[in-house]
This record gives sequence, C-alpha cells and structure tokens, in this order.
Amino acid sequence: MAEDAYFLGVDIGTSAVKALVVDGHERPIAGAEVALATDRPAPGWSEQHPDLWWQAVRQALAQMAADTPGVLGQVTAIGLSGQMHGAVLIGGDDRPLRPAILWNDGRAAAEAMALNAALPGLGQIAGVPAMAGFLAPKIAWLRTHEPDTLAVTKRVLLPKDWVRFLMTGEFATDMCDAAGSLLLDEARRQWSPALIEAVGLQLEQLPRLLEGPNISGRITAAAAAITGLREGIPVVAGAGDAAAAGIGIGAVDDGDAFISLGTSSQLFLTTADYRPNPVAMVHAFAHALPGRWFQMAAMLNGASVMAWTAGVTGAPDLGAALDATAARGRTISPVTFLPYLQGERTPHDDPAARGVFFGMDGGTDGLDLLQAAVEGMAFTLVDAVAALETAGPVPATLAAVGGGSRGRFVMEVVASALGRPIRRYAGGERGPAFGVARLARLAVTGETVADVCVKPELRDVILPDAGRQAALAARLPLYRDLYRALKPMFRR
Ligand code: XUL
Repeated sequence: MAEDAYFLGVDIGTSAVKALVVDGHERPIAGAEVALATDRPAPGWSEQHPDLWWQAVRQALAQMAADTPGVLGQVTAIGLSGQMHGAVLIGGDDRPLRPAILWNDGRAAAEAMALNAALPGLGQIAGVPAMAGFLAPKIAWLRTHEPDTLAVTKRVLLPKDWVRFLMTGEFATDMCDAAGSLLLDEARRQWSPALIEAVGLQLEQLPRLLEGPNISGRITAAAAAITGLREGIPVVAGAGDAAAAGIGIGAVDDGDAFISLGTSSQLFLTTADYRPNPVAMVHAFAHALPGRWFQMAAMLNGASVMAWTAGVTGAPDLGAALDATAARGRTISPVTFLPYLQGERTPHDDPAARGVFFGMDGGTDGLDLLQAAVEGMAFTLVDAVAALETAGPVPATLAAVGGGSRGRFVMEVVASALGRPIRRYAGGERGPAFGVARLARLAVTGETVADVCVKPELRDVILPDAGRQAALAARLPLYRDLYRALKPMFRR
C-alpha cells in the first residue's frame, strides 16, 4: 500500500456531515464536521433540504483543506455513508423537488399499515414490515398528499446518493441503503418489482444498485473545481450509516454484534445469510459487503435523548452534567423515562409514542432527569436484545460505537442494563465515515475484506455493576408497563 494513498469517507448524518481522510495505515490525516439543522414543519415530521447536505459537504472539505493543506489532492478513493430511509425526490431538471423526508418522520404511519395489509409477505421480501420512517410508505403518502410533486418526480434517491450525483453525475446506491427503502428484495439483492409496483413507482426512477465497495462513478470536472478533489478519482457505492459503522469496527463475520449510539441507536448483528424476523420488528438487511446480511434492532431515540434532557434542564454542557450525575453516585434515578421523543421503531413500531418522565416529586432535580434519560436509552437497548433474541442468540459481550459510547458512566449504565460486558475499540467514535473510507480502499487496492475490515485495537471493556444491574432489572417491568399503559393515550 503506497504511503501517500489517502481515502476519504463522508457521512451525511442527521445532526452533521462528517468527513474523514485516513492514510494507508488508517491513521487519521484530516477530519471535519459541519452541523445540520432539521426542520419540523408539523408534529412528528422531520425534513432537511438536500442542498443543505451538499453545502455541508463542501464546507467540510474546505475546512480539511484549510487545516491540512494538500490533503484533498492526495485522496485516491471516496466512500459515502448516510442517514438511511430518507426520501429525496428529483425532477426532470435534476434538482430536488422538495425537502427530503427523513428517517425519523412519522407522517406515513397509515400508509405503512396499508402497505403491510396489501402485501402480507412484505416483511419476508423486504426484511422488515413497512414502518412510517421508510422510503416506500413516504412515496405512498406523497401520492395522496402531494400528487403534483410525485407526478413530476423523475428519480427517487436516498440521502447520500444526492451527494453522489453532485460528485459524479451518477444515480446509484448501495445494497444496504437500498434495503432501507423497503423496495429491495433482500434475499436476491435486487429491486423488488412487487414492492415497486405497490407504491406506484417505475424501476427507471430508482438508482442503479451496487455492492458497497463497487465504484459508482468518478469525480467530475465540475465537482473537482468546486471541492478541490482530483477529477476522475472513484467514488464507491458506500453504505447506510449503520452498516458503515459495522465495517469500521470489523463487524463483518457471522455473529459480530455491536451497539451504535448516535442520534438514533442500533443493535446490529452480522449474519452470513438472510434471516428475516419481521414479527419482532427486526430489520434484516443487506450488509455493505456482497454475500453478507445483518439483523438490526433500530431505535429512533439514541444518545440524542441525553442531549435533549441536558438542554431542557438548563445544563450548559452534556459531558459535565453526565460527570455530575455519575459523581452523585445514585444506583438508579428515582424517575423513569420513556425516551420516545421521536416515536419508536423496534420493537414498538409506534410513530405516535412520545417521551414521558414518570415518578417525579418535589425533590426531583435536573440530574435525576438526566440519569433517567440515560437509563431510558439503556432500556431501549434491553428491548432491542429481546427483539433479536426472538430469532437467535445475541452474543454475551457487545461492542459499542458512536458518539454516545464515549462516556464511561453512560456505558456502565448500558452494560448494567444489558447484563453484558461492553467492548470499546480505539477509534470507535470515528463512525460511518471511517467505515466507508475502508470500502473505498477495498475498491482500489486489491486487498481482501479480511485484510481491510479488521477489528481495531481493543480500548477497554466495561463491566456491568452488580448493584446497578439489580436495580435496573427491578425497574424494567415498570418501564415496559408504562409504555403499554400509555400506548392508547399517545394517540389521543
Ligand atoms: C437505521 C436508522 C438510522 C438512520 C439515521 O434504520 O434509521 O440509523 O440511518 O442514522
């Protein structure tokens, strides 16, 4: 591997675009993060304009070029990752027709139910039943509510694939992001004619399907002039963010499992074959490497619920507030929190669910609420393990990645709630951008998956705390009963 070959990964996240350049030894050479805002035009809706992503990508690249002069000129291949499930509608002039409707948008709940009723085998084909956040039900929603937009829609893309188009002029996607559209035949790794027809789309409207490390196109002269990247360097298909994070920590073999804690959270288990388990709302999707799949419990409320709670309780800094919560030394918060600020996918499939603090008294303070938020998020992971366990065993230790895995206190609560040791790897917070930089490398070096997709160095293992584990186990039934009791009321 030439010393001067650099690989760029770009992740179009929900809260930020993150870009990372690594060298042939996977040493980080440059990185940048540009925050993104989300519009909430109505309760439960969530949108971002695709132009915002491209602006943020350009800004991130410019920042890296300014911080590390010459770095972009040395990039030899690029990988793209992104928030999954969003609907990006492109018109005949190759411009977005409206803001993208994101993964955490709950407007298409009725359309998701209608799709499941119309196609009873949908979960077996698509790897999971239709739920509001996926692309397919959103198309059905648009058909009823914005038929004029849909009538002039030439192409339907997933979020990162809009950035690909601007970089390469190609309309393409990868298997994993395609899986999140709910239009993919998971077992065959092809668009499903039955599912496409069910939402009234045409095959020509969908992007070309590629495996993650396949080259999707090359940087155009126009994109090179705008970004400073070299014209002609390849952009690989990449992956949806969950699988990209998996590539980054080497979760590529059957049974490799990890928790990802970002804005949303996932419990991810690599499988050597396609193993659908639609009843438990588990997502069985194509992995970012050919011939591999994964099972995933996908929760809409991850580390973001901690930041939200710190914000509304007036804590200026989440890290300091978590340190103060840990220093207080309470085994468990007196308050119980249902963290469903954006509804929930696995296991409830309930876009109407909302956040609830339960059990407050006059002595409750902000740190009690923050600890309850950490515990509530940890309980969603307990439910995630239970969902995956309906189909088979979940490993006795789990890795953790993502920004939310940085804090020791949070990880100790998660380990205790799950009753499982949690492994953290060096660079585990580098996330999806690092994973797709690996896919880019695979495309151009001729190395094998076993060479490239290795597990990083183990940083530490966080063990459950016996006292906390017992207290959280005793609280879990209340947490679950609260949701069951409130479920009908969320709909009022
Ligand atoms: C996965 C999921 C999230 C989004 C945003 O199913 O909804 O991971 O991709 O991060």
